[in-house]
Amino acid sequence: MLVKSVDEKIGLVTDMIVESKRVVVFTGAGVSTESGIPDFRSPGGIWDRFDPDEFTIQRFLSSAETRAKQWRLLIESGLIADARPNAAHVAIADIERMGKLSCVITQNIDNLHQKAGNSPEKVFELHGNMNWVVCLNCQSRYPLPDIRKRLNLESGPPSCAKCSGILKPDVVFFGESLPPVVLSDAVRHSRECDLLIAVGSSLVVYPAAYMPVYAKEAGARVVIVNLTATSYDMMADEVINRKAGEVMSRIMEAVQKRLS
Ligand code: APR
Ligand code: ZN
Repeated sequence: MLVKSVDEKIGLVTDMIVESKRVVVFTGAGVSTESGIPDFRSPGGIWDRFDPDEFTIQRFLSSAETRAKQWRLLIESGLIADARPNAAHVAIADIERMGKLSCVITQNIDNLHQKAGNSPEKVFELHGNMNWVVCLNCQSRYPLPDIRKRLNLESGPPSCAKCSGILKPDVVFFGESLPPVVLSDAVRHSRECDLLIAVGSSLVVYPAAYMPVYAKEAGARVVIVNLTATSYDMMADEVINRKAGEVMSRIMEAVQKRLS
């Protein structure tokens, strides 16, 4: 089988974006590592340092100690660091600026697509967003920075200022279902797009990882940009195993040239 160079693949993906009208970009933690936020399954990633079984909703609700432990994990893991978008996020926002973006479907909770300029209504956050903390009793919502200031875990996890209820980050824990409307919107856009580009995801967590499958089944082309192999590489039209920042910015530079 003829092995294509990275340059050739970048040229082919450039052609696909130029020809497309409804591009879905599907992202995972790998799109944010160049912003300093660790991913989960790379060597040294979060699940190398913390136990995912601790991160279930059952554990979170079971006691103030496990809640404090999970708040500590969120802080120490770097997952809620105040990070800046990197070149990959900017390139993805450029797809929207060119009027070609259907939506971004992200598994990330870091709000970096919005910070890079993607319209919030075009970013479907399957696993929630760390920007907000919700009271499980009275549903009051608090911006994370306000809570982070008060986070003194020695005296236990934060509680609601209005009703002293349990405060939970507005993210999906293992054992919780994904936000139903966000999920159905994401599935619909995946089924209606003409190109899906998966960036920085190991594609091992469901139902998120079905999105490229829905796109392929609907006749769209699928591109995977990921440092390491995924189980969907055989199904993809192009696979580029390089850093997202470099690849996505080179692709969008080429698209810009072609469209100007
Ligand atoms: N450029 C391209 N790919 C990268 C980069 C980079 N700079 N850095 C890491 N990667 C790749 C890794 O090789 C890995 O395959 O990104 C992928 C990230 O995979 P995961 O760490 O499994 O993250 P993700 O796919 O988003 O995980 C999905 O699992 O634990 C849950 O809720 C968590 O949303 C998360 C979900
Ligand atoms: Zn409350």
